[in-house]
Amino acid sequence: MTFRTLNGADLKGKTALVRVDFNVPMEDGKVTDDTRLRAALPTIELLAKAGAKTALLAHFDRPKGKRVPDMSLKPLVDDLSALVGKPVAWADDCIGDAAASVIRDMKPGDVAMLENVRFHAGEEKNDPAFAAELAKLGDLFVNDAFSAAHRAHASTEGVAKLLPAYPGLAMERELNALEMALGNPQRPVMGIVGGSKVSTKLDLLKNLVTKLDKLAIGGGMANTFLYAQGHDVGASYCEKDLAETAREIIRLAGHNNCKLFLPLDIVVAEQMASGVPTRVRNLGNVDDHERILDAGPETVARLKRAMGNSKTLVWNGPLGVFEIPPFQRGTMEAAWHAAQLCREGKLTAVAGGGDTVSALNAAGVAIDFTFVSTAGGAFLEWMEGKELPGVEALKV
Ligand code: 3PG
Repeated sequence: MTFRTLNGADLKGKTALVRVDFNVPMEDGKVTDDTRLRAALPTIELLAKAGAKTALLAHFDRPKGKRVPDMSLKPLVDDLSALVGKPVAWADDCIGDAAASVIRDMKPGDVAMLENVRFHAGEEKNDPAFAAELAKLGDLFVNDAFSAAHRAHASTEGVAKLLPAYPGLAMERELNALEMALGNPQRPVMGIVGGSKVSTKLDLLKNLVTKLDKLAIGGGMANTFLYAQGHDVGASYCEKDLAETAREIIRLAGHNNCKLFLPLDIVVAEQMASGVPTRVRNLGNVDDHERILDAGPETVARLKRAMGNSKTLVWNGPLGVFEIPPFQRGTMEAAWHAAQLCREGKLTAVAGGGDTVSALNAAGVAIDFTFVSTAGGAFLEWMEGKELPGVEALKV
């Protein structure tokens, strides 16, 4: 896989169209988490230092091809200006004169934010005419939005074919981390997949068992596997209709020499509520009215040992209902242990997906992981082994 690289590229006096993911959480017109804005800063800085003009392309929410005032990117401009350290210009449209005139008036090193690309129906249709309108505005295209790279849209895929296309620095970092985790990992490589539903992670599990040496399954989805093996799961969340699929995944893991770790013991309660009494149960010992809400201590201890015997860890999804104490314990202990192994230089750990990021932040260890991806859908599709159109289009 080869990509161009911005470092050393001839950028002076050029206009770079930079696709970023500024689909950030907002409340009452204010950004409540600016992680994605910050992620774009190294690329913006590199381009400014090299004397290029930077025009930022982004989507916000899902306006479905219409101008929806509440989905404008304009409210981000002040936050972005503060982070960039100088005023960011604003263009009321991402194509045509509104965009071209703002870019014309910029000086080398300046930055402009263009209005939501999804206000045009051509964006999500990947309409070549719309991509050509975008391409007219710049000399080169930079994609720094890994988290939108699973979309084959005009501003992620179409325009990359019309201009010299580069990964931005955040994209480059993300691709390198993913390569270290699954592309060409140091072995043994272990996975942890949790979360509630098997149904949303079928492709992911089927792909992972062909790539990993060990895979631990936790969270609500483990209940489906336990049920498939004939264990009683009481009143737990369980996708009983997927029992055969779970057995197929177990068989597939066997054929591929991937050692599966299913829970050995579990934490149960009668209610999923903060502070309720809990019990640790062995498999098959769950009462009808009890729900499995976390991994048990033996399960977590075995998981920690398995991590200790691995060189690489890839993690998606919590082991229990970590948002509600006391069901955070399994996820926290596993996260602390992975973080410690990373700090000691013994483990490369890559994690991703919305819930996983929240869990690692709650455990206070996101900083210790080798890489934590804030991408949701794109991270999952990558774990499923799918090609991401926004990444493919950057290859030379
Ligand atoms: C995200 O927030 O995960 C990305 O920006 C993709 O957004 P989308 O699911 O609306 O395409």
